[in-house]
Amino acid sequence: MRLDRLLANLGVCSRSECRNLLRAGRIGVNGAVRARPDTDIPENAEITLDGKRLDTRLTRHLMLYKPAGILTAAEDARQKTVMDLLPPMYRHLGCMPVGRLDKDTTGLLLLTTDGEMNHRLLSPKRHVDKVYLAHVDGALDENDVKAVAVGIDLGDFVSLPAKLEIVSPDTGRLTLREGKFHQVKRMFAALGKPVTQLHRCAFGPLRLDEALLPGAFRELTGEETAALYRAADMEK
Ligand code: URA
Repeated sequence: MRLDRLLANLGVCSRSECRNLLRAGRIGVNGAVRARPDTDIPENAEITLDGKRLDTRLTRHLMLYKPAGILTAAEDARQKTVMDLLPPMYRHLGCMPVGRLDKDTTGLLLLTTDGEMNHRLLSPKRHVDKVYLAHVDGALDENDVKAVAVGIDLGDFVSLPAKLEIVSPDTGRLTLREGKFHQVKRMFAALGKPVTQLHRCAFGPLRLDEALLPGAFRELTGEETAALYRAADMEK
């Protein structure tokens, strides 16, 4: 990638500001300050601004605590999306949500720049578990646990066997590997106990970081990233 585009994508400066910074000798590439804006920057090059090394990683993975009232979408003309909760750099780098949570659903949303991993994590054949805490209108019982374990006929498909744990009469923890449109709400509705509140606590090997407040995000740690690539059957 060209130096000026890289710096613009990382939110360091605009492409025209880059020219000025270069002229002023404020940007270094592998120790030299003579680079041109169109210099092709190899992976792992050391880029500095005023002597300080910049974080130039193009591949990023984020965990976001999605609050209620926000759309899971790359963009929307009228409504706020999860991308509006992140610094613009992540959009420029091509970060995209992995799957979606409904507007009123809260909890763990993974975003990544790695399109291949994104695609693989969503495939039902990869068995990536998603864990939801559902508050329902009604009292959950052992019949519901059995129905979820067998699979529920939702008309257009039968849900794959999943696990329901009763946390309290009106709260269930549901672990499933599918992620069809409104699936959790449809499953509880089919049991006659509609969801009143839905929260995702886990996605594959990731648990929602308890230190995050609704609307906040952080980049994944090296360990979390490695676990995610393993879950996607990818070598990294
Ligand atoms: N299932 C749903 O019904 N809604 C969500 O947001 C996620 C899973």
